[in-house]
Amino acid sequence: MNSEFESIFARLRGILLNYSGSLEVSDDRPGHYCLEVVFSPKLKKAFPVAWVKIVKGYVSYHFMPVYLFPKLCDGLSKKLRAWMQGKSCFNFKVVDEALSKELEQVTADGFAACRKAGFAPEHDQSVEQQGTVATFAKPVKKAGASLLLAVVVLLTSQGCQHQDSVSSGAAPGAERSSKIAPRDDAASRAAFLAAYSVLTHPRCLNCHPKGDQPLQGEDSHIHLQNVQRGSDGKGLFAMKCANCHQLKNLSGENMPPGHPEWHLPPANMRMVFEGKTPAELARQLKDPKLNGGKTLEQIVHHSAEDSLVATGWQPGPGRSTPPLSQAEFGKKMREWVDRGAAIPE
Ligand code: HEC
Ligand code: HEC
Repeated sequence: MNSEFESIFARLRGILLNYSGSLEVSDDRPGHYCLEVVFSPKLKKAFPVAWVKIVKGYVSYHFMPVYLFPKLCDGLSKKLRAWMQGKSCFNFKVVDEALSKELEQVTADGFAACRKAGFAPEHDQSVEQQGTVATFAKPVKKAGASLLLAVVVLLTSQGCQHQDSVSSGAAPGAERSSKIAPRDDAASRAAFLAAYSVLTHPRCLNCHPKGDQPLQGEDSHIHLQNVQRGSDGKGLFAMKCANCHQLKNLSGENMPPGHPEWHLPPANMRMVFEGKTPAELARQLKDPKLNGGKTLEQIVHHSAEDSLVATGWQPGPGRSTPPLSQAEFGKKMREWVDRGAAIPE
Protein backbone atom coordinates (compact mmCIF):
# COMPACT_ATOMS: atom_id res chain seq x y z
CA MET A 1 0.00 0.00 0.00
CA ASN A 2 1.21 3.49 -0.88
CA SER A 3 2.81 4.98 2.22
CA GLU A 4 1.73 8.52 1.32
CA PHE A 5 -1.83 7.25 1.32
CA GLU A 6 -1.29 5.69 4.71
CA SER A 7 -0.14 9.02 6.11
CA ILE A 8 -3.16 10.76 4.63
CA PHE A 9 -5.39 8.05 6.00
CA ALA A 10 -3.88 8.30 9.49
CA ARG A 11 -4.34 12.07 9.51
CA LEU A 12 -7.97 11.92 8.33
CA ARG A 13 -8.83 9.02 10.61
CA GLY A 14 -7.42 11.17 13.41
CA ILE A 15 -10.04 13.82 12.68
CA LEU A 16 -12.86 11.30 13.04
CA LEU A 17 -11.33 9.68 16.11
CA ASN A 18 -12.25 12.83 17.98
CA TYR A 19 -15.88 11.89 17.59
CA SER A 20 -15.57 8.20 18.38
CA GLY A 21 -16.81 8.89 21.88
CA SER A 22 -20.19 10.11 20.80
CA LEU A 23 -20.70 7.93 17.72
CA GLU A 24 -20.44 4.24 16.97
CA VAL A 25 -17.20 3.08 15.34
CA SER A 26 -18.69 0.66 12.85
CA ASP A 27 -15.48 -0.11 11.02
CA ASP A 28 -11.86 0.24 12.03
CA ARG A 29 -9.38 -1.60 9.87
CA PRO A 30 -6.18 -0.52 8.16
CA GLY A 31 -7.40 1.63 5.31
CA HIS A 32 -10.99 1.92 6.43
CA TYR A 33 -12.59 3.74 9.34
CA CYS A 34 -16.28 4.50 9.69
CA LEU A 35 -18.46 6.32 12.19
CA GLU A 36 -22.14 5.67 12.44
CA VAL A 37 -25.02 7.43 14.13
CA VAL A 38 -26.61 4.53 16.00
CA PHE A 39 -30.00 6.13 16.14
CA SER A 40 -30.83 9.34 14.39
CA PRO A 41 -33.79 11.01 16.10
CA LYS A 42 -34.73 12.57 12.78
CA LEU A 43 -34.25 9.64 10.42
CA LYS A 44 -35.39 7.14 13.05
CA LYS A 45 -32.61 4.79 12.13
CA ALA A 46 -28.88 4.28 12.04
CA PHE A 47 -26.80 5.87 9.31
CA PRO A 48 -23.10 5.98 8.48
CA VAL A 49 -22.17 9.62 8.92
CA ALA A 50 -18.46 9.80 8.11
CA TRP A 51 -15.79 7.47 6.86
CA VAL A 52 -12.24 7.44 5.55
CA LYS A 53 -11.09 4.88 3.11
CA ILE A 54 -7.99 4.14 1.06
CA VAL A 55 -9.01 3.22 -2.46
CA LYS A 56 -7.09 2.89 -5.70
CA GLY A 57 -5.61 6.24 -6.57
CA TYR A 58 -6.60 8.29 -3.53
CA VAL A 59 -7.88 8.44 0.04
CA SER A 60 -11.49 9.46 0.33
CA TYR A 61 -13.14 11.26 3.19
CA HIS A 62 -16.90 10.98 3.12
CA PHE A 63 -18.75 13.40 5.28
CA MET A 64 -22.53 13.28 5.16
CA PRO A 65 -23.19 16.56 6.98
CA VAL A 66 -21.72 18.45 4.01
CA TYR A 67 -24.45 16.91 1.89
CA LEU A 68 -27.13 17.62 4.46
CA PHE A 69 -25.99 21.19 5.01
CA PRO A 70 -24.47 22.49 1.75
CA LYS A 71 -23.91 25.85 3.43
CA LEU A 72 -20.98 24.25 5.23
CA CYS A 73 -19.13 24.48 1.93
CA ASP A 74 -19.70 28.21 1.52
CA GLY A 75 -16.45 29.16 3.14
CA LEU A 76 -14.34 26.36 1.70
CA SER A 77 -10.99 27.28 0.21
CA LYS A 78 -10.64 26.81 -3.54
CA LYS A 79 -8.05 24.16 -2.90
CA LEU A 80 -10.23 22.02 -0.70
CA ARG A 81 -13.15 22.45 -3.04
CA ALA A 82 -10.98 21.16 -5.86
CA TRP A 83 -10.63 17.87 -4.05
CA MET A 84 -14.33 17.55 -3.54
CA GLN A 85 -16.20 14.89 -5.46
CA GLY A 86 -19.95 14.60 -5.49
CA LYS A 87 -21.74 16.24 -2.62
CA SER A 88 -20.20 14.64 0.42
CA CYS A 89 -16.80 13.37 -0.56
CA PHE A 90 -13.25 14.71 -0.51
CA ASN A 91 -10.52 12.76 -2.25
CA PHE A 92 -6.88 13.29 -1.40
CA LYS A 93 -3.71 12.16 -3.10
CA VAL A 94 -1.10 14.09 -1.19
CA VAL A 95 -0.55 15.02 2.42
CA ASP A 96 -1.56 18.63 2.96
CA GLU A 97 -1.71 19.81 6.55
CA ALA A 98 -3.51 23.07 5.73
CA LEU A 99 -6.28 21.17 3.98
CA SER A 100 -6.48 18.64 6.82
CA LYS A 101 -6.89 21.50 9.27
CA GLU A 102 -9.63 23.01 7.15
CA LEU A 103 -11.36 19.66 6.93
CA GLU A 104 -11.09 19.34 10.69
CA GLN A 105 -13.03 22.59 11.05
CA VAL A 106 -15.64 21.57 8.46
CA THR A 107 -16.04 18.32 10.37
CA ALA A 108 -16.55 20.04 13.70
CA ASP A 109 -19.09 22.44 12.17
CA GLY A 110 -20.82 19.60 10.35
CA PHE A 111 -21.29 17.42 13.41
CA ALA A 112 -22.57 20.42 15.35
CA ALA A 113 -25.07 21.22 12.60
CA CYS A 114 -26.17 17.57 12.56
CA ARG A 115 -26.86 17.57 16.26
CA LYS A 116 -28.64 20.87 16.12
CA ALA A 117 -30.97 19.71 13.36
CA GLY A 118 -31.70 16.41 15.07
CA PHE A 119 -29.84 14.13 12.66
CA ALA A 120 -27.60 12.99 15.47
CA PRO A 121 -28.50 12.79 19.14
CA GLU A 122 -27.32 15.49 21.50
CA HIS A 123 -25.70 13.06 23.85
CA ASP A 124 -23.10 10.36 23.85
CA GLN A 125 -24.60 7.21 22.46
CA SER A 126 -21.69 4.79 22.64
CA VAL A 127 -22.57 1.40 24.09
CA GLU A 128 -20.66 2.02 27.28
CA GLN A 129 -22.71 5.09 28.01
CA GLN A 130 -25.49 4.77 30.54
CA GLY A 131 -28.62 6.78 30.01
CA THR A 132 -28.78 6.35 26.24
CA VAL A 133 -32.52 6.14 26.59
CA ALA A 134 -32.67 9.79 27.46
CA THR A 135 -31.05 10.48 24.11
CA PHE A 136 -33.85 8.80 22.23
CA ALA A 137 -36.42 10.74 24.17
CA LYS A 138 -35.13 14.00 22.75
CA PRO A 139 -37.93 15.88 21.00
CA VAL A 140 -37.82 15.33 17.27
CA LYS A 141 -38.27 18.35 15.07
CA LYS A 142 -40.46 17.98 12.03
CA ALA A 143 -38.33 16.83 9.15
CA GLY A 144 -38.75 17.90 5.57
CA ALA A 145 -39.94 14.73 3.81
CA SER A 146 -38.03 15.45 0.63
CA LEU A 147 -34.78 15.89 2.47
CA LEU A 148 -35.29 12.64 4.33
CA LEU A 149 -35.97 10.86 1.09
CA ALA A 150 -32.89 12.40 -0.44
CA VAL A 151 -30.76 11.18 2.44
CA VAL A 152 -32.05 7.66 2.15
CA VAL A 153 -31.47 7.68 -1.60
CA LEU A 154 -27.99 9.02 -1.11
CA LEU A 155 -27.14 6.41 1.45
CA THR A 156 -28.17 3.63 -0.84
CA SER A 157 -27.26 4.86 -4.28
CA GLN A 158 -24.57 7.50 -4.43
CA GLY A 159 -21.38 6.69 -6.28
CA CYS A 160 -19.03 7.29 -3.41
CA GLN A 161 -21.02 5.49 -0.80
CA HIS A 162 -20.38 3.44 2.24
CA GLN A 163 -21.33 0.01 0.98
CA ASP A 164 -18.88 -0.13 -1.88
CA SER A 165 -15.95 0.15 0.44
CA VAL A 166 -16.12 -3.47 1.45
CA SER A 167 -16.04 -4.74 -2.09
CA SER A 168 -13.51 -2.26 -3.48
CA GLY A 169 -10.53 -3.83 -5.16
CA ALA A 170 -8.03 -2.24 -2.79
CA ALA A 171 -8.63 -4.93 -0.15
CA PRO A 172 -7.71 -2.59 2.70
CA GLY A 173 -7.68 -5.36 5.26
CA ALA A 174 -4.89 -7.21 3.56
CA GLU A 175 -1.97 -5.18 4.80
CA ARG A 176 -1.22 -3.89 8.21
CA SER A 177 0.88 -0.80 8.53
CA SER A 178 3.06 -0.18 11.52
CA LYS A 179 2.50 3.55 11.10
CA ILE A 180 -1.19 3.41 11.83
CA ALA A 181 -1.90 2.36 15.37
CA PRO A 182 -4.97 0.18 14.87
CA ARG A 183 -7.79 0.14 17.31
CA ASP A 184 -6.85 -2.01 20.27
CA ASP A 185 -9.20 -1.80 23.23
CA ALA A 186 -6.89 -3.58 25.66
CA ALA A 187 -3.91 -1.35 24.85
CA SER A 188 -6.16 1.70 24.97
CA ARG A 189 -7.54 0.77 28.39
CA ALA A 190 -4.08 0.05 29.77
CA ALA A 191 -2.86 3.45 28.58
CA PHE A 192 -5.78 5.17 30.24
CA LEU A 193 -5.19 3.39 33.54
CA ALA A 194 -1.59 4.65 33.51
CA ALA A 195 -2.81 8.18 32.81
CA TYR A 196 -5.43 7.81 35.55
CA SER A 197 -2.67 7.49 38.14
CA VAL A 198 -1.65 11.03 37.19
CA LEU A 199 -5.15 12.50 36.85
CA THR A 200 -6.02 11.40 40.37
CA HIS A 201 -2.75 12.44 41.97
CA PRO A 202 -3.24 15.19 44.60
CA ARG A 203 -1.40 17.76 42.40
CA CYS A 204 -4.18 17.38 39.86
CA LEU A 205 -7.10 16.25 42.01
CA ASN A 206 -6.78 19.28 44.28
CA CYS A 207 -7.94 21.51 41.41
CA HIS A 208 -10.51 19.02 40.13
CA PRO A 209 -12.60 18.51 43.29
CA LYS A 210 -16.14 17.24 43.43
CA GLY A 211 -17.27 20.06 45.68
CA ASP A 212 -17.04 23.79 45.13
CA GLN A 213 -13.90 24.29 47.16
CA PRO A 214 -10.36 23.53 46.05
CA LEU A 215 -8.36 20.94 47.99
CA GLN A 216 -4.88 21.11 49.48
CA GLY A 217 -1.99 18.91 50.43
CA GLU A 218 -1.12 15.24 50.00
CA ASP A 219 -4.33 14.25 51.78
CA SER A 220 -6.47 16.53 49.60
CA HIS A 221 -8.18 18.25 52.50
CA ILE A 222 -10.57 21.13 51.84
CA HIS A 223 -8.76 24.42 51.19
CA LEU A 224 -8.40 26.52 54.34
CA GLN A 225 -9.77 30.07 54.59
CA ASN A 226 -13.14 28.92 53.18
CA VAL A 227 -12.02 29.49 49.61
CA GLN A 228 -14.86 28.88 47.11
CA ARG A 229 -14.92 28.08 43.40
CA GLY A 230 -17.10 31.00 42.27
CA SER A 231 -18.87 30.85 38.91
CA ASP A 232 -15.70 31.45 36.89
CA GLY A 233 -13.53 29.20 39.08
CA LYS A 234 -11.44 32.16 40.23
CA GLY A 235 -12.84 32.49 43.71
CA LEU A 236 -15.62 34.40 45.41
CA PHE A 237 -15.62 37.95 46.77
CA ALA A 238 -12.39 38.83 48.56
CA MET A 239 -11.12 35.27 48.32
CA LYS A 240 -9.90 35.41 44.73
CA CYS A 241 -7.28 32.80 43.91
CA ALA A 242 -4.95 35.44 42.52
CA ASN A 243 -4.92 37.30 45.83
CA CYS A 244 -2.72 34.59 47.30
CA HIS A 245 -1.58 32.53 44.32
CA GLN A 246 0.98 34.65 42.49
CA LEU A 247 2.39 34.35 38.98
CA LYS A 248 5.04 31.97 40.31
CA ASN A 249 5.48 29.67 43.27
CA LEU A 250 6.40 31.51 46.44
CA SER A 251 9.46 30.05 48.11
CA GLY A 252 9.17 28.05 51.27
CA GLU A 253 6.94 25.21 52.41
CA ASN A 254 3.20 25.75 52.78
CA MET A 255 3.32 28.81 50.57
CA PRO A 256 0.77 29.03 47.75
CA PRO A 257 1.90 27.59 44.42
CA GLY A 258 1.70 30.10 41.55
CA HIS A 259 0.68 30.44 37.92
CA PRO A 260 -0.84 33.39 36.03
CA GLU A 261 -4.03 31.38 35.45
CA TRP A 262 -4.31 29.63 38.80
CA HIS A 263 -8.01 28.75 39.19
CA LEU A 264 -10.56 25.92 39.22
CA PRO A 265 -12.69 24.90 36.24
CA PRO A 266 -15.82 27.08 36.19
CA ALA A 267 -19.06 26.16 37.97
CA ASN A 268 -20.86 25.27 34.73
CA MET A 269 -18.07 22.92 33.55
CA ARG A 270 -16.59 21.51 36.70
CA MET A 271 -14.41 18.74 35.22
CA VAL A 272 -14.48 16.71 38.42
CA PHE A 273 -11.73 14.08 38.79
CA GLU A 274 -12.18 13.43 42.52
CA GLY A 275 -14.01 10.20 43.32
CA LYS A 276 -14.32 9.12 39.68
CA THR A 277 -13.60 5.53 38.66
CA PRO A 278 -11.39 5.10 35.58
CA ALA A 279 -14.47 4.32 33.48
CA GLU A 280 -16.34 7.38 34.72
CA LEU A 281 -13.38 9.66 34.15
CA ALA A 282 -12.69 8.27 30.67
CA ARG A 283 -16.32 8.84 29.67
CA GLN A 284 -16.28 12.34 31.03
CA LEU A 285 -13.09 13.25 29.17
CA LYS A 286 -14.63 11.95 25.94
CA ASP A 287 -17.86 13.86 26.30
CA PRO A 288 -17.74 17.35 24.78
CA LYS A 289 -20.71 18.26 26.96
CA LEU A 290 -18.61 17.62 30.07
CA ASN A 291 -15.13 18.52 28.86
CA GLY A 292 -15.74 22.05 27.72
CA GLY A 293 -16.39 21.16 24.08
CA LYS A 294 -12.96 19.71 23.51
CA THR A 295 -12.13 17.15 20.86
CA LEU A 296 -10.09 14.16 21.98
CA GLU A 297 -7.18 15.69 20.11
CA GLN A 298 -7.50 18.81 22.27
CA ILE A 299 -7.62 16.71 25.43
CA VAL A 300 -4.37 15.02 24.44
CA HIS A 301 -2.82 18.36 23.60
CA HIS A 302 -3.99 19.87 26.88
CA SER A 303 -2.56 16.94 28.84
CA ALA A 304 0.82 17.09 27.17
CA GLU A 305 1.29 20.84 26.77
CA ASP A 306 -0.91 22.89 29.08
CA SER A 307 1.07 25.05 31.46
CA LEU A 308 -1.49 24.79 34.29
CA VAL A 309 -1.24 21.01 34.04
CA ALA A 310 2.55 21.46 34.09
CA THR A 311 2.36 23.03 37.57
CA GLY A 312 1.82 19.47 38.83
CA TRP A 313 5.52 18.89 38.18
CA GLN A 314 6.75 22.18 39.66
CA PRO A 315 4.60 22.13 42.77
CA GLY A 316 6.83 24.07 45.13
CA PRO A 317 8.82 22.76 48.08
CA GLY A 318 7.44 19.88 50.15
CA ARG A 319 4.91 18.63 47.61
CA SER A 320 5.10 15.32 45.75
CA THR A 321 4.84 15.03 41.97
CA PRO A 322 2.70 12.62 39.90
CA PRO A 323 4.01 9.11 39.15
CA LEU A 324 4.72 9.79 35.44
CA SER A 325 6.43 12.82 33.87
CA GLN A 326 4.20 15.17 31.90
CA ALA A 327 5.71 13.83 28.65
CA GLU A 328 4.94 10.25 29.65
CA PHE A 329 1.47 11.28 30.73
CA GLY A 330 0.90 12.96 27.35
CA LYS A 331 2.07 9.80 25.59
CA LYS A 332 -0.36 7.63 27.54
CA MET A 333 -3.23 9.96 26.70
CA ARG A 334 -2.15 9.90 23.05
CA GLU A 335 -2.08 6.12 23.07
CA TRP A 336 -5.47 5.94 24.80
CA VAL A 337 -7.01 8.08 22.07
CA ASP A 338 -5.17 6.61 19.06
CA ARG A 339 -6.03 3.07 20.09
CA GLY A 340 -9.72 3.90 20.18
CA ALA A 341 -10.36 5.81 23.44
CA ALA A 342 -11.73 2.66 25.09
CA ILE A 343 -13.53 2.81 28.42
CA PRO A 344 -11.65 0.81 31.09
CA GLU A 345 -14.46 -1.13 32.72
C1 HEC B 1 -4.68 25.38 39.52
C2 HEC B 1 -5.67 24.41 39.25
C3 HEC B 1 -5.35 23.24 38.35
C4 HEC B 1 -4.38 22.29 38.54
C5 HEC B 1 -3.30 22.26 39.58
C6 HEC B 1 -4.62 21.28 37.52
N1 HEC B 1 -5.67 21.62 36.74
FE1 HEC B 1 -6.42 20.57 35.17
N2 HEC B 1 -7.69 22.07 34.77
C7 HEC B 1 -7.81 23.23 35.49
C8 HEC B 1 -8.73 24.10 34.80
C9 HEC B 1 -9.13 25.49 35.22
C10 HEC B 1 -9.14 23.42 33.64
C11 HEC B 1 -10.06 23.93 32.55
C12 HEC B 1 -9.20 24.57 31.52
C13 HEC B 1 -9.87 24.81 30.23
O1 HEC B 1 -10.94 24.29 29.95
O2 HEC B 1 -9.22 25.50 29.42
C14 HEC B 1 -8.47 22.13 33.66
C15 HEC B 1 -8.65 21.17 32.70
C16 HEC B 1 -7.95 19.98 32.67
C17 HEC B 1 -8.13 18.97 31.67
C18 HEC B 1 -9.12 19.00 30.58
C19 HEC B 1 -10.29 18.26 31.14
C20 HEC B 1 -11.51 18.34 30.35
O3 HEC B 1 -12.44 17.60 30.72
O4 HEC B 1 -11.58 19.14 29.39
C21 HEC B 1 -7.26 17.96 31.96
C22 HEC B 1 -7.09 16.67 31.20
C23 HEC B 1 -6.54 18.36 33.11
N3 HEC B 1 -6.98 19.60 33.54
C24 HEC B 1 -5.58 17.60 33.68
C25 HEC B 1 -4.83 18.00 34.77
C26 HEC B 1 -3.73 17.24 35.28
C27 HEC B 1 -3.25 15.91 34.74
C28 HEC B 1 -3.24 17.94 36.32
C29 HEC B 1 -2.09 17.60 37.21
C30 HEC B 1 -0.83 17.24 36.62
C31 HEC B 1 -4.04 19.16 36.45
N4 HEC B 1 -5.01 19.14 35.50
C32 HEC B 1 -3.85 20.14 37.40
C33 HEC B 1 -7.19 23.54 36.67
C34 HEC B 1 -6.14 22.83 37.20
C1 HEC C 1 -6.13 33.45 51.37
C2 HEC C 1 -5.15 32.95 50.45
C3 HEC C 1 -5.59 31.94 49.43
C4 HEC C 1 -6.61 32.07 48.53
C5 HEC C 1 -7.62 33.19 48.37
C6 HEC C 1 -6.57 30.87 47.72
N1 HEC C 1 -5.55 30.08 48.13
FE1 HEC C 1 -5.11 28.24 47.40
N2 HEC C 1 -3.59 28.05 48.75
C7 HEC C 1 -3.22 29.00 49.63
C8 HEC C 1 -2.07 28.52 50.38
C9 HEC C 1 -1.33 29.27 51.48
C10 HEC C 1 -1.78 27.22 49.92
C11 HEC C 1 -0.68 26.28 50.37
C12 HEC C 1 -1.17 25.49 51.54
C13 HEC C 1 -0.17 24.47 52.02
O1 HEC C 1 0.59 23.98 51.21
O2 HEC C 1 -0.20 24.19 53.21
C14 HEC C 1 -2.77 26.97 48.88
C15 HEC C 1 -2.86 25.78 48.20
C16 HEC C 1 -3.77 25.53 47.20
C17 HEC C 1 -3.88 24.30 46.50
C18 HEC C 1 -3.10 23.05 46.77
C19 HEC C 1 -1.94 22.86 45.90
C20 HEC C 1 -1.41 21.45 46.02
O3 HEC C 1 -0.83 21.01 45.05
O4 HEC C 1 -1.61 20.79 47.03
C21 HEC C 1 -4.83 24.45 45.55
C22 HEC C 1 -5.29 23.42 44.56
C23 HEC C 1 -5.33 25.78 45.67
N3 HEC C 1 -4.69 26.42 46.69
C24 HEC C 1 -6.30 26.30 44.87
C25 HEC C 1 -6.87 27.55 45.07
C26 HEC C 1 -7.89 28.09 44.20
C27 HEC C 1 -8.42 27.40 42.97
C28 HEC C 1 -8.22 29.30 44.71
C29 HEC C 1 -9.31 30.22 44.23
C30 HEC C 1 -10.62 29.61 43.99
C31 HEC C 1 -7.39 29.52 45.88
N4 HEC C 1 -6.57 28.44 46.06
C32 HEC C 1 -7.44 30.64 46.68
C33 HEC C 1 -3.81 30.21 49.83
C34 HEC C 1 -4.91 30.69 49.15
